[in-house]
Amino acid sequence: MKINLYPGTFDPITNGHMDIIERAVKFSDKLIIGVLNNPSKAPFFSVEERIEIIKQVTEGMGNIVVDSFSGLLIDYVKANNIDAVIRGLRATTDFEYEFQMAQMNNKLYDKMETIFLMTKSNLSYISSSLVKEVFAFGGNIDDFAPAKVIEYMKAKVNK
Ligand code: PNS
Repeated sequence: MKINLYPGTFDPITNGHMDIIERAVKFSDKLIIGVLNNPSKAPFFSVEERIEIIKQVTEGMGNIVVDSFSGLLIDYVKANNIDAVIRGLRATTDFEYEFQMAQMNNKLYDKMETIFLMTKSNLSYISSSLVKEVFAFGGNIDDFAPAKVIEYMKAKVNK
């Protein structure tokens, strides 16, 4: 049984993330989506909201569990018998940071494996921060995130 972990901030989950999940679930017996709980960042959505949204948009996609974690990624990996961590690579700009993280994680825990999936070219410019920025200034974000996510974003600002 291969248990893989797709960790991230997911504030909010985008179509880029959705593509990685759709592909990773095919080679995972179980895919855990791990939402980082980082109290030092001021997120748009709380961790609880992000978990709820991710559960809704990944419903029916396969054996997916949505969880949160805090502290070191390797501690979650050890505690949950994770076989591999999945990360999406959008461009060479992602590579340096991701390479450094993968190596640091492997140095901290030598059984730690990271699998990189190349983002589809039509999604490679999408990031959670840009989606939030375009949304904040009233731009159309329909092509960048699932409709449910956009609904939640609109509801949040209209509160
Ligand atoms: O979606 P993001 O923000 O690119 O995800 C980054 C994430 C959550 C994978 C990374 O920040 C992380 O693993 N944080 C947990 C703390 C940790 O283990 N830091 C050392 C990494 S070398």
